[in-house]
Amino acid sequence: MNARLKRMAVMLAVPVALGALLGVAGRHYFPESIAAQAARQDAIAPPVHLSALNVTLPPGQSTFPPGPGVDIANSNCVMCHSTGMVLRQPPLTTGEWKVEINKMRSAFGAPITPDQIDALAHYLNTVNGRKPQTGPSGVDNQAS
Ligand code: HEC
Repeated sequence: MNARLKRMAVMLAVPVALGALLGVAGRHYFPESIAAQAARQDAIAPPVHLSALNVTLPPGQSTFPPGPGVDIANSNCVMCHSTGMVLRQPPLTTGEWKVEINKMRSAFGAPITPDQIDALAHYLNTVNGRKPQTGPSGVDNQAS
């Protein structure tokens, strides 16, 4: 074997030997295989038993109570939240409901047309309303 071949053999053998050594010595630091993790967890975790349950939820109102203008409410006010979000608020005057409806339009994009606002405000005032009065109100008398 001439000197050149020897040098080439050493150049090849050294990295291969180093790699093999690292593979053996570094095994401890390599990430654990998925199968090994699963086996280890199987050995320590208690078995899980799943079973079906029957849950009866309290009844919710999916549509607004009947009255003139109810269609506007049912088609514009329940796509983002429940009727309860509207009906379980402090009662508002018609004017305050208009403010609230406009807030839903401008802040959140409720698709209600301007010509429906009056009718809807009257409807909401009949199902969850109060008469205008002087003094503080739930929304600080933003409108009469
Ligand atoms: C595009 C979605 C969207 C639509 C449509 C919508 N709302 Fe709302 N509404 C919201 C969000 C969001 C909130 C919660 C706001 C908050 O937490 O501050 C809310 C809250 C409310 C509240 C509670 C008080 C308040 O101001 O937070 C009332 C009352 C209300 N909506 C009425 C209505 C009425 C009436 C309509 C029909 C005209 C309507 N909403 C349609 C998104 C919507």
